[in-house]
Amino acid sequence: MPRFFDTPERYSLISRSLHWGMALLFAMQFVTSATRWALPREDPIREFFWAYHAPIGTTLFLLVLLRGLWGLINMHRRPAHGSGLIGRMARVGHLAIYALMVIVPTLRLIAAAGSTRGFSYLGVEIFAARETEIAWMDAMAEWHGELGWILGLLVLGHIAMAVGWHHFIKRDGTLQRMT
Ligand code: HEM
Ligand code: HEM
Repeated sequence: MPRFFDTPERYSLISRSLHWGMALLFAMQFVTSATRWALPREDPIREFFWAYHAPIGTTLFLLVLLRGLWGLINMHRRPAHGSGLIGRMARVGHLAIYALMVIVPTLRLIAAAGSTRGFSYLGVEIFAARETEIAWMDAMAEWHGELGWILGLLVLGHIAMAVGWHHFIKRDGTLQRMT
């Protein structure tokens, strides 16, 4: 029977499903962001991908709240980080990724709440369109893209450490506890 909770040796099926399911959605999210950034406005490929950005981003926002709660419940039985410099960097890095996974979509949802266009998720109206825009809320959109790219860079570093450092150089089984 698969274990429900994490253990110091391994992340549970629930934690692994959240990690890899969200990793897939983040990969898609960065594809929609990169095509928006790289291609001209009327490009059909850009339009095709961009249609998924807000729905995937909102799904990620809901999933990270669940994952954060699940992480807190499992905090004292999860695999530990090392005690050296790399271990401390991993702890700070994971915390920064968690923080940005919450902050990045939150900023854009605040902007959407203050806009004249309104916002719907999966056909359900979340924020009604306003008569006039709320300037301070709209300003949050500027930070959204910048911090989104910083999150992307942190994730690239995270993958390099997990696969390059732990799996191929140290061969210490860190990757296996998440797979
Ligand atoms: C964790 C989830 C998210 C990530 C990683 C993310 C990432 C990004 C990035 C990197 C950009 C910049 C694209 C460029 O340079 O052209 C961007 C722009 C944008 N994102 Fe997201 N995003 C997320 C969630 C959301 C959500 C939930 C919404 C809508 C509610 C949203 C709406 C937008 C919009 C409309 C833009 C265009 C610029 C603007 O008007 O702010 N994003 N996003
Ligand atoms: C190919 C892609 C990826 C690989 C190989 C990978 C690998 C791993 C591994 C091995 C761990 C366990 C580390 C440990 O126990 O100390 C881990 C944890 C973690 N990963 Fe990834 N990861 C990937 C993608 C991502 C993405 C896209 C995100 C977020 C945007 C992410 C966020 C995290 C976080 C926050 C943790 C800490 C544990 C948790 O609470 O889930 N990872 N990853």
